[in-house]
Amino acid sequence: MNKSFHEVVTSRRSIRSFSSEPVDIDEILLLLEHAIYAPSPANMQDFKFVISQNEDVLRALPDMCMEQDWIAQGSAVIAVCSEVSRVEEWFGDRAKELADQTTGGVVQTILLAASANNIGACWVAGFDQDPVKKLFNIPSSVSLQALVVLGHPYSKPDPRVEKDIYPLTFFDFYGNDLHDLTSVNHDYSVKLEKKLSSLQSSAKKSSSQLQKQVDKLKKFFFK
Ligand SMILES: Cc1cc2nc3c(=O)[nH]c(=O)nc-3n(C[C@H](O)[C@H](O)[C@H](O)COP(=O)(O)O)c2cc1C
Repeated sequence: MNKSFHEVVTSRRSIRSFSSEPVDIDEILLLLEHAIYAPSPANMQDFKFVISQNEDVLRALPDMCMEQDWIAQGSAVIAVCSEVSRVEEWFGDRAKELADQTTGGVVQTILLAASANNIGACWVAGFDQDPVKKLFNIPSSVSLQALVVLGHPYSKPDPRVEKDIYPLTFFDFYGNDLHDLTSVNHDYSVKLEKKLSSLQSSAKKSSSQLQKQVDKLKKFFFK
């Protein structure tokens, strides 16, 4: 992997169009070797994976996955499961919610590892539990949380348009955005002014990435 963390994260896209070149089992295991570093409540590591490279399985999935026909083109699928009954023993009623949160970290780690290794991947949660669980012989005490379909990308969508953090971020209290900063906590505005001026001086060194950040910050800060 020679990509920077920034590149791995920002170039990741959901891939739904695959070439006929198979994804090797070693490549799939490499993704899971990363995924197991995902955090879990009390470090229970309540997740389990079922890997299938079986063409019949991939062909059967679209019917069970809201007619998502592109899945059949995939080279492999990983069913991400949670031993939710084990989580229940520790966390009672909150088990499902915690298992769902753990799955987010696990699946995102798989997707980032795939992005780092130029493997196409797509998170699929649009499926009917019962038939898919039956397909993979998943016991009733185990929850099927997500599918990740893998393949070598046939075509790759452009990186997503960069998002701004400022409309999504509040300071101290929900609803306080950058425009309210001076009235909320002057420290933030001082720090952000410092950030802005340091970004501006770095941007002079002709980095378009930095210039974009400066423009975004300016737009929100001085509006
Ligand atoms: C919980 C969850 C469920 C998803 N389920 C599906 C799905 O069933 N089918 C699919 O094609 N994409 C699915 N996606 C992928 C999203 O559509 C995709 O991440 C989103 O459109 C953003 O595109 P990007 O991943 O290329 O950035 C799912 C994503 C998440 C987080």
